[in-house]
Amino acid sequence: MQIVIINGPNLNLLGTREPEIYGNSTVEEYLKILIAEFPSVDFVYFQSNIEGEIINKLHEVGFSADGIILNAGGYTHTSIAIGDAIKAIKTPVVEVHLSNVFARESFRHESFLTPVCKGCISGFGMQSYKLAVQSFI
Ligand code: DQA
Repeated sequence: MQIVIINGPNLNLLGTREPEIYGNSTVEEYLKILIAEFPSVDFVYFQSNIEGEIINKLHEVGFSADGIILNAGGYTHTSIAIGDAIKAIKTPVVEVHLSNVFARESFRHESFLTPVCKGCISGFGMQSYKLAVQSFI
């Protein structure tokens, strides 16, 4: 089973970015944990700060991967185009957020992605990614 994890803008700074909200762990550290916990899963990781690159990656893997875990960061709340890309592909997408977006500013309560995703996991820190992996198994 291949699962592609796509992280959007500013998530390359996890570990140092607002640790009181997003925690101290880097994605690289957490990926090692996921790989150890799910040895049968072939994980592919991609991060970009650029909306079009996220869309290109969804197109590239969205007809062959078994699952996509997407944290689109701030684009979650603004991007009709990423929502359209999710609609256009075949692979199911689970939306994830480290923070509980519903407990934060009201502009984070709106997602252009949730209606076209299989589901949404928000508020469990890095564990949000693990819960998303489990949803595909
Ligand atoms: C985030 C929540 C978004 O509102 C924010 O813009 C992010 C990170 C999260 O993982 O909690 O960049 O997606």
